[in-house]
Amino acid sequence: MTVLNRYHVKSGFLSLAPMDDVTDRVFRKIINDCYPPDLSFTEFVNVDGLMSKGRQVLRKKLDHPEGEKNLIAQIWGLNPANFYAIAKEIADKKFGEFIGVDLNMGCPDKTVVKNGACSALINNRELALDIINATKKGLKSRLPLSVKTRLGFNKIDYSWHEFLLKQDLDMLTIHGRTRSEMSKVSADWKAIGEIRKLRDKLSPSTLIVGNGDVLSFIQAKEYIKKYKLDGVMIGRGVFQDPFIFSNKSIWTQMSRLDKFKLFKKHVELYKATWQDSKPIQVLNKFCKIYINNFEGSKEIREDLMSSKSSDELLEKINNQIDQKSNQI
Ligand SMILES: Cc1cc2nc3c(=O)[nH]c(=O)nc-3n(C[C@H](O)[C@H](O)[C@H](O)COP(=O)(O)O)c2cc1C
Repeated sequence: MTVLNRYHVKSGFLSLAPMDDVTDRVFRKIINDCYPPDLSFTEFVNVDGLMSKGRQVLRKKLDHPEGEKNLIAQIWGLNPANFYAIAKEIADKKFGEFIGVDLNMGCPDKTVVKNGACSALINNRELALDIINATKKGLKSRLPLSVKTRLGFNKIDYSWHEFLLKQDLDMLTIHGRTRSEMSKVSADWKAIGEIRKLRDKLSPSTLIVGNGDVLSFIQAKEYIKKYKLDGVMIGRGVFQDPFIFSNKSIWTQMSRLDKFKLFKKHVELYKATWQDSKPIQVLNKFCKIYINNFEGSKEIREDLMSSKSSDELLEKINNQIDQKSNQI
């Protein structure tokens, strides 16, 4: 069944979660090449920073190649005037082509919350409303607007979702934990289902997406069916299977050699995109995706990740590829 929506996604769609320092343009390219999600998000980008001297550094989080078609810009901050300005620039295509803007109202980080941003907005509806309205004014209906949030601050608080559902949003993504729970307990999908019921009553045209602990395509589809959701968002599941958005993932059948080759592609992209301007250590968490689950993998990872530059790392990966190729 096709849902009429401004993202042009079919019901039962899957999105790649925004993950700071993870889903940059390099990793999104890897995931898109493995099997593309229906929607992707940038890492969260601070609008107050974008409107300050830090703009040139921060805007790199929004830069993306022309061919990347399914991308939503996720923004956060405090000053509604800056939300207005950045939303306008995004709709004016100053940062390239995006298919929507998402407001982060869920990040639980201590410093962010202390400053009153992201999940702190759950307890500051006046500012949340100003931010939503300022962003809408900047977008002038040219792009859809969505919010990503949690179940509540200290406890589940459906009044927050009722409030959001009255703002005529195009999509609402719910990470099934409260702010206090951080990532320490399992996501509460029943509560996500309750928010979907609220949506049916209050704002039938808002897409509802559930998020939290989904580790496979099948699980995502089961949750969509069970909780009658429009879509599911997957974050850390990509660490276990970069092909997770495919209903026929080849990940478990892929040879060790092919996984080394995929890591090589990742590092080459990292090198070409960031020229080592991001510390090489950002690749540590990715190394674990590709070089894992075989005897000696820990030692190989430790050796690879002791590299001081992408060139050194590539040389070591090439040596591994040569060794593995000779074994075949
Ligand atoms: C390393 C990391 C960075 C994250 N950065 C963001 C972010 O920039 N914006 C956001 O809305 N959520 C962020 N999240 C939360 C994820 O989008 C997602 O809600 C959370 O990981 C739960 O989904 P999962 O269990 O599928 O990973 C981040 C999570 C992780 C693990």
